[in-house]
Order: sequence, then C-alpha cells, then structure tokens
Amino acid sequence: NRHTIKIAIDGPAAAGKSTVAKLVAQELSYIYIDTGAMYRAITLKALAHSIPLDNEAQLTQLLEQTVIKLKQAKEGQQVFLDGEDVTLQIRSQQVTNHVSYIAKLPKIRQEMVNRQQSFAKQGGVVMDGRDIGTYVLPNAEVKIFLVASVDERAKRRFKENRRKGIPSDLEEIKNEIRKRDQIDSSRKVSPLVKAEDAIEIDTTNQSIKQVAELILEEAYHVLKR
Ligand code: CDP
Ligand code: CDP
Repeated sequence: NRHTIKIAIDGPAAAGKSTVAKLVAQELSYIYIDTGAMYRAITLKALAHSIPLDNEAQLTQLLEQTVIKLKQAKEGQQVFLDGEDVTLQIRSQQVTNHVSYIAKLPKIRQEMVNRQQSFAKQGGVVMDGRDIGTYVLPNAEVKIFLVASVDERAKRRFKENRRKGIPSDLEEIKNEIRKRDQIDSSRKVSPLVKAEDAIEIDTTNQSIKQVAELILEEAYHVLKR
C-alpha cells in the first residue's frame, strides 16, 4: 500500500480553491472533494421545499433524508442530489446568495462534517472548503489557506461567468463575495479561519499553475519524509 496523505485547502470565496484542488488531486491521482458543493446542494433543496433558512430542526431533518453524491468526471466534479444531476443548478445566484445562512447552522455542519470525514477514509484526498484544516481534517498532512484581494476574486468570478455565458455584474459579485465572507468568518461554529499550521498563499498575482505547483511541492516534501 502506497503511502497517501490528506490535503486540506481552505479560504474565502473565489480564491481559486476548487480549480487548484482539482489539479493537485489529478496530479497525485487522489480523490477531490468539494465540500462547498454539499452545502450548496442542501441549500438548493431547502429553497425548492420553501423551508425557512433559519429553521435548524426542519433543515437538519431534510438533510438526514438527503443523499448527496460527488462524482469525479472528465469535465470536472459532478454533483448529484437524491440521484439528480444538479452540478449547474447549485452554482445559481439564488443558491449562492442563501448558502451561508444554512452553512452557519451547527447541526447542519455536524452532519456535513461526519459525511466529509467518512469520504476521506478512502485514502489520498484533496478536500476544499472553509473548515477543512481546522475541523474536518485536523490531522491533514498538508494544510493550505488561499487568499486573494476581493477585487481580484470578484474579477475572477466575473470572467468565469462570462466564459460560461452567465450574465453578471462585477459590483454585485463583489458585494456578494464580501457578504458571504463576512457571514462565513463570523459564525459561531467552525468559522472561516486559517488553521494555525496552515500555509497561507496569496494568489492575487499568481496563476493557477503556480499555486498548484506550490501545493504539490509541499505535498511531495511530506510524501518523501
Ligand atoms: O466556490 P465558492 O467559494 O463560491 O463557494 P463554495 O466553496 O461553493 O462554498 C459555498 C458556501 O458554503 C460558503 O460561502 C460557505 O458558506 C459554505 N461552506 C462552508 O461553510 N464550509 C465549507 N467547508 C464549505 C463551504
Ligand atoms: O473554489 P473557489 O471559490 O475558491 O475558486 P475557484 O472556483 O477555483 O476559482 C474562481 C475562478 O478564478 C475560476 O474561474 C478560476 O479559473 C480563477 N482563478 C484564477 O484566475 N487564478 C487563480 N490563481 C485561481 C483561480
């Protein structure tokens, strides 16, 4: 059995976590787990069922009856909600604007963390989110905290939308990112914060490739030990 490690990648919205995590996972032939997609999936379902986003008991019950699957496909990660492919729907502005309210509920987080920890038991894993290095995989051998200026992050999301043909407004994106970062950083349970032993990388002026290489260097360093 080849020695494998766990790599945790955290940081604020649109810092480049998922893009870089995917590359690193590919290079190491590890599984990639996008934990944000799980919070987005339950948000999509809660909105569809018109459940108030502060009703923790009802939302927790809903989550317990919900199957969220992440599949690795050539085109990227696919997300299935109770068997339905919701890969595109979970990226909608509506889901984006509401997800942080559900993600701050302690019982929702506990259930998600349990699921994420069981996914990670399979071996080599790259997981991205907000609380991976601090709560989900506190023993991860490599912990990365990606940051970038809010202007740069908004620009990236804006360009990404343009590429995908999704109409959007730069100022609106900037406000949405600021709002989400504020809710994610100030919540009581597992807020967005750099783990003490995480390496912080400011990606404002760095390409995807440069960031991926930095993380891989760190991973190979640990693997050689
Ligand atoms: O890709 P983007 O940075 O826009 O967000 P995401 O990673 O898909 O996460 C969406 C939201 O889920 C975040 O704004 C957090 O509110 C929540 N989240 C979380 O609370 N904990 C995680 N481990 C991952 C996401
Ligand atoms: O997962 P997270 O929300 O942190 O960010 P992402 O979805 O991986 O990246 C947001 C956008 O920024 C994507 O369109 C990436 O291609 C782009 N990006 C970039 O231009 N430069 C980087 N160093 C990292 C990401």
